[in-house]
Amino acid sequence: MNEATNPPLGGRGLKIALIGYGKMGKTIESIAQQRGHEIVLKIDVTNADELTPANLQKADVAIEFTSPHSAYGNVMKCLQAGVPLVCGSTGWLDRLEEVKQYCLQHNGAFLYASNFSVGVNIFFEINKRLAELMNPHPGYAIHMEEIHHIQKLDAPSGTAATLAEQILERVERKDSWTNHNSTDPTLLTITSKRVDTAPGTHIVTYSSDIDTIEITHTAHNRLGFATGAVLAAEFLKDKKGIFSMKEVLGL
Ligand SMILES: NC(=O)c1ccc[n+]([C@@H]2O[C@H](COP(=O)([O-])OP(=O)(O)OC[C@H]3O[C@@H](n4cnc5c(N)ncnc54)[C@H](O)[C@@H]3O)[C@@H](O)[C@H]2O)c1
Repeated sequence: MNEATNPPLGGRGLKIALIGYGKMGKTIESIAQQRGHEIVLKIDVTNADELTPANLQKADVAIEFTSPHSAYGNVMKCLQAGVPLVCGSTGWLDRLEEVKQYCLQHNGAFLYASNFSVGVNIFFEINKRLAELMNPHPGYAIHMEEIHHIQKLDAPSGTAATLAEQILERVERKDSWTNHNSTDPTLLTITSKRVDTAPGTHIVTYSSDIDTIEITHTAHNRLGFATGAVLAAEFLKDKKGIFSMKEVLGL
């Protein structure tokens, strides 16, 4: 990703509300400003009471990267205020359908991605195709591993959960995924490792007695996630409905 493929918007800058000013929020602020946007509201735990409809409505779009525990409440406040919302917080997906229903019923705009990077979204497409090809070959055992920094609160990662769902939809011999070691052949095991500062690695492995096929995505830093989130905000302005990175990136 560089300026040649995603030029700054110049005079068409957005007014952005940033909810969550941690590692991702700060990186998003920097990318958004480089692309000619203005941060009109910045919310973190110390000023969470400023997340009001009046403040949110000063923005064209809100971007939310907080935590598994706070995401749902923040998302609902944005949708209730009628502000288009890009959300990247992971670990709260049990309430995602509820949010999508609310958004559709109230004519809002919402884009969620478990991973905003261009590379991972291409990796998702490769993962789906590989799963289709491996479906008729039960001799291959399937395993997934994800490696993240030690501050990460949820396991498995949202990206690993998306990869696993894509496999479950295409490989008939797998019924569900588990984050524990299991020998049940109907379960897809995801191993989660937490080490130092790793921004995120995902490995999908198909192994048989004869050979192994492995696909790996390794994020080197957070720039890919942050750039994707800003591209998503640019895409979402003035739209209504539910979207994903597939539409943003035209995949
Ligand atoms: N979708 C993606 O591409 C992607 C990429 C990286 C991280 N993430 C996810 O984004 C989230 C944030 O990641 P991070 O690395 O920035 O974490 P972080 O811990 O560095 O930052 C989170 C920030 O949110 C703040 N926060 C917590 N509760 C809040 C609340 N109620 N209101 C406002 N702010 C609140 C925290 O104080 C902190 O500053 C995590 O869920 C992570 O898994 C998603």
